[in-house]
Amino acid sequence: MSQSNDFYWGTSVAAYQIEGAWQEDGKGLSIWDAFSNKKGNTYLNQTANVSCDFYHRYEADLDIMQSLGIRHFRFSLAWSRIMPQGTGHVNQKGIDFYNRLIDSCIKRGIEPWVTLYHWDLPHVLEQKGGWTNRHVVDWFKDYSEICLKHFGDRVKYWMILNEPMVFTGAGYFLGIHAPGKRWLKNFIPAMHHAALCQAEGARIVKHYQPQAQVGTTFSCSYVTPFSNSPRDVQAAQRVDALLNRLYIEPSLGMGYPVKDLPFLNRVEKYFRNGDEKLLSFEYDFIGIQNYTREVAKYSWWMPFVNADLVKAANRGIEPTLMGWEVYPECIYQMLHKFASYPGVKKIFVTENGAAFPDKVENNRVHDTKRTQYLKDHIAQVLRAREEGIRVDGYFVWTFMDNFEWAEGYRPRFGLVHIDFDTQQRIIKDSGYWYRDWISQQTTILNASLVQTVQK
Ligand code: FCB
Repeated sequence: MSQSNDFYWGTSVAAYQIEGAWQEDGKGLSIWDAFSNKKGNTYLNQTANVSCDFYHRYEADLDIMQSLGIRHFRFSLAWSRIMPQGTGHVNQKGIDFYNRLIDSCIKRGIEPWVTLYHWDLPHVLEQKGGWTNRHVVDWFKDYSEICLKHFGDRVKYWMILNEPMVFTGAGYFLGIHAPGKRWLKNFIPAMHHAALCQAEGARIVKHYQPQAQVGTTFSCSYVTPFSNSPRDVQAAQRVDALLNRLYIEPSLGMGYPVKDLPFLNRVEKYFRNGDEKLLSFEYDFIGIQNYTREVAKYSWWMPFVNADLVKAANRGIEPTLMGWEVYPECIYQMLHKFASYPGVKKIFVTENGAAFPDKVENNRVHDTKRTQYLKDHIAQVLRAREEGIRVDGYFVWTFMDNFEWAEGYRPRFGLVHIDFDTQQRIIKDSGYWYRDWISQQTTILNASLVQTVQK
């Protein structure tokens, strides 16, 4: 992979986690609205009905972003705001909101990076089976076309799905995320249809905007075996196939990793003629999203994968608020792993960050652990880049504290602290650190460009 001179420093957010205004201006309900508003599904039954109220406060939030010198902003579009019925009718007020948001970014010199789907399927579509229904491919194509027709003239970077492994795994196998469905009978069709939508959406972006850069994002974890025993080593291989290979391989034309995970054979039932080809697409880039590593152990009782993940706390390691180990080298390993696929042209780290307990003291948040986490992970990204891996950008998860899905408001990941009662914003020390880091990098980059010109 060859290097480019540019490196993009940004932050990522997702519509459902920050926008609020859950029933405003003609928006339809999404599966997350339905799920979180049903008792027993989230931490303390919290919802994102209001959350950061970004829908009303985006101008002020973009001012903060601009003041920190963050020039790349990855956000998602809420399908049910744009098409309340999931398909057909287009809600002009939803279109207007995203037009304002995109224009407000551009006005401030902030590049909008748009994700089409970050987990908030319109609820009406879920009532028809959601991701398990093959029709979702047509619904998603309609929605993608509407987005491209309205926003394609100004958005140069598109991502189709956010972490398909997580939303199908947690939402359709484990039932711990919306829509709360379980088992393989739901997971397998949801997986296949999500993989098809990914490539179909990408084709639509290119059809309407051939100049646009199109990618999609994958969650990933560096998986190591608990011991050197062959059983643990093989367990780690299976977990790796599930967590890291399941979506990228079909999208590169390699098919699902059936050899390592024979239960995936069941997908044949949902295959139609030509699907093999429909699944693949030549993406301009892929986004990898990495937070931690996983340690895998053989387990006879765990169905399908025969493996268990040994939690950080059970290994004597102090975890983050998500229960995750801090292991900076994981991102370096993942960059090497994903870059080693011949079809991967370019990588952006589209999410990385950490949740630690934050304290507001005299209007400041001294979040030294988060700053350290970011420094250490960025160092590993740059290490991979120096070794020739084509990684051209890094996005912190996340700009401001928000609704962390089933975990509610407890884990705070933001560079900006939010008081969810008053909506007051406070830039954390990590936010100021990121500002200084970006400005220093830009200076270095400019200096090296000058040198190149002078040569
Ligand atoms: C990722 C999600 C993102 C956020 C972070 C912590 O899996 O894409 O929305 O929840 O984890």
